[in-house]
Amino acid sequence: MYIYDNIGLVIIIYEFNGVNMNYIKNIIKYGEAETIYEKKKYKSQNPNLRILFWETTLRCNALCKHCGSRAGEKNKYNDELTTDEIKQCFKTISQKMDSSKIFLNITGGEPLLREDLFDVMKYAKNLGFGWSMTTNGTLIDSNMVAKLKEAGLTSVSISIDGTEHTHDEFRGVKGYYNKSINAIKLLRDANFLDVLQITTVVNKNNINELEDLYKIISDLHVDSWRIMNIDPIGRARDNKDLELDKDEYKYLIHFIEQKRKKSKFDVTSACTHYFGIKHEKETRCYMFQCIAGTEVGSILYNGDIFVCPNVERRPELIQGNIRKDDFCDIWKNKFEIFRDLDRYKKCKECNECEDAKYCLGESLHTWNFDENKPNICMNKILNT
Ligand SMILES: C[S@@+](CC[C@H](N)C(=O)[O-])C[C@H]1O[C@@H](n2cnc3c(N)ncnc32)[C@H](O)[C@@H]1O
Ligand code: SF4
Ligand code: SF4
Repeated sequence: MYIYDNIGLVIIIYEFNGVNMNYIKNIIKYGEAETIYEKKKYKSQNPNLRILFWETTLRCNALCKHCGSRAGEKNKYNDELTTDEIKQCFKTISQKMDSSKIFLNITGGEPLLREDLFDVMKYAKNLGFGWSMTTNGTLIDSNMVAKLKEAGLTSVSISIDGTEHTHDEFRGVKGYYNKSINAIKLLRDANFLDVLQITTVVNKNNINELEDLYKIISDLHVDSWRIMNIDPIGRARDNKDLELDKDEYKYLIHFIEQKRKKSKFDVTSACTHYFGIKHEKETRCYMFQCIAGTEVGSILYNGDIFVCPNVERRPELIQGNIRKDDFCDIWKNKFEIFRDLDRYKKCKECNECEDAKYCLGESLHTWNFDENKPNICMNKILNT
């Protein structure tokens, strides 16, 4: 079995003629960990845009309790980019960068609420960009599947946050679980995607349903199940009771590790946290390395130029706006704050930490810019 790391290199063959290669796997893993700092340093000095998020809209047909973008709240509808503005931006990027090497990740709000989505994405595809999308799936019917195929969509992630009752309650609308499951089946049967993924955000209400969900998702025959914990951003901050406790985090990581070993489809954690060397590469195929600002950038719904859309949106972190700035110029000449390898040194605990050279102060979207420390140290939670 070949495993790809997050820069796309084939790095390990897990089994050789049926012989378990755990021993060799560990040698490679620990060796690779020692290269993390140098890799990150190289990327900081040579930023290379690989994933560009476009937050199409902050409109939404759901009202999820955890929504990091506070989507669906009425004051967020003004100021959306027009069709021409976003097309022009993609066109300029394609003239200055190699569009075939940049993947557009379409998100929201609910991206399928944008009436011009297919028009814009067909245009982007003709400029040479590949594209993927995260969606709640509730608007996908067979007509929509045909349109997505025609517009060149290659991978999609659909949110399922529990079994029927839990999912509908969490997402705020009865009936949405069945709609999302139906969308997954339609996309699976249409058989044109490289990756059909389900994303689950684990919280207090669904942690006890993971085994049930595993059974449901196995039967759906998707390619991948991405499981992540709830982040304390947006509306999740108003619903603190949803956050996991220490034992639940441990259970979650153990669950992912066990299922990952035995499943025919990819069960994976997200990119968000450093789990400690012991757990690194056991819950996903690559080792933790936050690539926000070195390989990931975003265009927000109103044209603001930003880093990963899950990073806390503080006015001083917005790097520009495509309505007045050239995206490529900003990517090349700004973004310094996100490329600072020494960010972790501002935190006493991180500065004194033995794992700092692997972790570098957790991901940017975990960073607390007021207190200059990570909001959570998953390494400490899991390994002490
Ligand atoms: C912002 S949504 C946009 C796409 C679409 N509306 C959806 O729900 O899938 C993208 C992903 O972020 C996740 N998300 C939103 N708020 C989050 C939070 N506070 N912590 C972790 N993930 C979150 C959603 O569950 C979803 O999987
Ligand atoms: S998580 Fe997605 S579906 Fe839920 S409110 Fe936010 S944008 Fe809408
Ligand atoms: S203390 Fe800081 S550097 Fe060390 S593992 Fe935790 S977040 Fe990472």
